[in-house]
Order: sequence, then structure tokens, then C-alpha cells
Amino acid sequence: MKIVLAYSGGLDTSVALHWLKERYDAEIIAFCADIGQLESLDTVKERALRTGASKVYVEPLADRFLADFALPALQAHARYENKYLVAAPLSRPLIAQRMVEIAHAEGADAVAHGATGKGNDQVRFHTSVTALDPHLKVLAPVIDWELTTRESELAYAREHGIEVSVSKENPYSIDTNIWGTSIECGELDDITQPPPAHAWQLTADPKSAPENAEQVTIGFEGGVPVALDGEKLGLTELVSWLGSLAARHGVGRIDIVESRVVGFKTRGIYEAPAATVLMAAHEELEAIVLDRETLHHKQQLALRYAELAYYGYWFSDLRRALDGFVATLQPQVTGEITMELHKGSCTVVSRRSPNSRYSGALATYEAGDTFDHKAGAGFAYVWSLPLTRP
Ligand code: ARG
Ligand code: SIN
Repeated sequence: MKIVLAYSGGLDTSVALHWLKERYDAEIIAFCADIGQLESLDTVKERALRTGASKVYVEPLADRFLADFALPALQAHARYENKYLVAAPLSRPLIAQRMVEIAHAEGADAVAHGATGKGNDQVRFHTSVTALDPHLKVLAPVIDWELTTRESELAYAREHGIEVSVSKENPYSIDTNIWGTSIECGELDDITQPPPAHAWQLTADPKSAPENAEQVTIGFEGGVPVALDGEKLGLTELVSWLGSLAARHGVGRIDIVESRVVGFKTRGIYEAPAATVLMAAHEELEAIVLDRETLHHKQQLALRYAELAYYGYWFSDLRRALDGFVATLQPQVTGEITMELHKGSCTVVSRRSPNSRYSGALATYEAGDTFDHKAGAGFAYVWSLPLTRP
């Protein structure tokens, strides 16, 4: 048997590599997607080989992740339960897609991941792989094995000579990519308490962030962010630059009790500095270029889009159809939005677009008003009719 394992080099997937190899007498191909995680991946290949992998893929996938997954979600304004910018959910279909491609290239029988049975991630890996190839087996060693505690996993690792880096004991379950970081478990499970200061991984505490506000102008072309303060940048570079700037100002922190796919609620905290600023700016731009009815319809679809991503229904006709709706509108979404970052907040200061529908002459209450007030009164009369009986 040949298995492609989504491997991060952490405790779970290191133990999983060894466990799968023994349990199925299998050849293990480790796959590590580099999508901008916090820990360095320099040694991950050697570590996987030493743990028993027969072959290792370490792939830089941040560009593909941003272009094919994060950008459509940005343009759709995907926020699960109105808050969570779905960084982890967007990465699962990409990882699944590469696992399926590698499985086909290597003639593997199964793919495997290190997610737990209580989580959304195992659902997302399963749905994504199944949508792409219903004949591939999806193995979830962490669900199947009898190593139910961290201690038993560490004991297994010691017993089998598996290297694990437990230098900095972290009480949280953390998942990071270039679009955002998610932090769960530990003290965060007490929803009566605010997150402890040390739980945050990327962003400055808004209270101790710089006293002086900073402005940044984001240039959009056809719905794609292409420039910061007039300087043209590729998407990946733009997201990393903006991410560090916004993180310095404590922007992009989210604290949410969310409804998991598997039925219960959990508390998580998220840090998505670049995504927060970009989504706010993209919304400001759409507010001036889209007509009212299209804008309102799109706002309703944003929640639905986030649900599909969160639920693991990325590879669904509905998600593709919603993308089609969003994509037809993006050619108009060109212009520049200036945002001000200050102590955790991100507010708009200026909006400009060649496609703006805003007319100062129609809006003004001062001299130069071109709005026909008599027509307004006639409209009010007609608009009231449905509320009356003859
Ligand atoms: N609860 C979040 C979600 O479902 C975060 C999952 C992050 N995964 C992790 N292994 N820590 O998207
Ligand atoms: C996990 O259980 O593997 C992480 C949390 C989640 O998937 O929601």
C-alpha cells in the first residue's frame, strides 16, 4: 500500500507517519505545503525521511493559495458567522487537491491527514478529496489510533525514536498560513474570559500599538489588490507587506464562539491582519462602484460563500456558481482606497474610482444640487402606495 500523508513536521503528523507505515505496512509519501506558516520548513524534508517517509514533497504554494483560494474569498467577502475570515478552511481544499494530484502521479491508494475527529478539518479533507477522486481512501490516523493524549503520543515517539521538537511547549492548537492564523484550545476554552495576552501569535496588542496612526493606500484593478501606496506588488508580496504593517498596529484580531460543522460550538481566536484590511478596503470600493441591488444581493451571498468554505464544500457547484457571480462584477472594482490603521482599528479615509457611482452634485444639500426634489416627492407618493388600501 502507498499513502500520501499531509505532513507538517509537528507531533501529530510525525507520529502519524510512523504509525501509518507500521499499521498498513505501507510506503509513505510525505507532502508538506508551504503556505506561509510560522515555523520554518528548512528541516522538514530530512525529518520526514528520518521518520520513515520514502519520498517527500515540500512545495511552495503560497502564490497558488492566494490566487485560487484566498482571492475569490476576499472578493466574495467571506466571513463565517460574520467574523471569521476562513484562513484554515481555504487551505484544506488546496492541500487536498495537491494530495490527490500526488497520489495519482505516484500511484498511491490512499491519502492521510492529521486532523482530529471533533474538528472541521477532517471533514474538509474528506469532502475535498472525495469531490476530486471518490475512489481514493482518506485515512485519519489521529482518529483511528489509541494514542488519546499528548503524553501517549510523546511516549510513542520516544519508543520509536521519532524526533519531535517540543522545545517551546505550546498549550494551543495553532494553524497558520499567509491569510491568517487560528488559535484554539487551552485557556481559550473558558468563554467567560478574554484571551490571555500570550495566546496571540502575530499581532501587537492594540493597547500598546504605536500612538501614531498610519495610512496605507491599496490600489485595486478588477477586484485584485495590485499596489500599496502606489507601488505595484505581486499578490503574495502585497499580502505579506500589508500583513506586517497591520500586525504592528494590532489590526485583525478576532475572538469568536463559532458553530462547528460537527455540531457543537467552540471558541477560537484568529489573526488575519492583511485579510482584514484588504476585505474592508474591497468592501469600501464595491460600495461606490456597485449599484444598490447588486451590492445588497452580494452582501447576502457573502455569508453563504463563507459557509461553503467553512463546511468543506469548496469543490461544489454552488461555490463555483457563486464565484461566477462575484467574478462578473470584479472588472468594475478598480480604484484606490486609503485605510488608516491605529491601535487595532482599520478605518477608511479616502475612496477613489474611475467607476464610482457616487455623485457629489446629487448628494449635496448645498449650492450646486442637481437632484430633482419634485421628482423625489412624486417618488415618495408612489412608493407609499403598496402600504395603503383604496
Ligand atoms: N476552527 C477553525 C476552523 O474550523 C480553525 C481550525 C484550525 N485547525 C487547526 N488544526 N488548529 O476553521
Ligand atoms: C482538529 O480538530 O484537527 C482542528 C480543529 C478543527 O478542525 O476544527
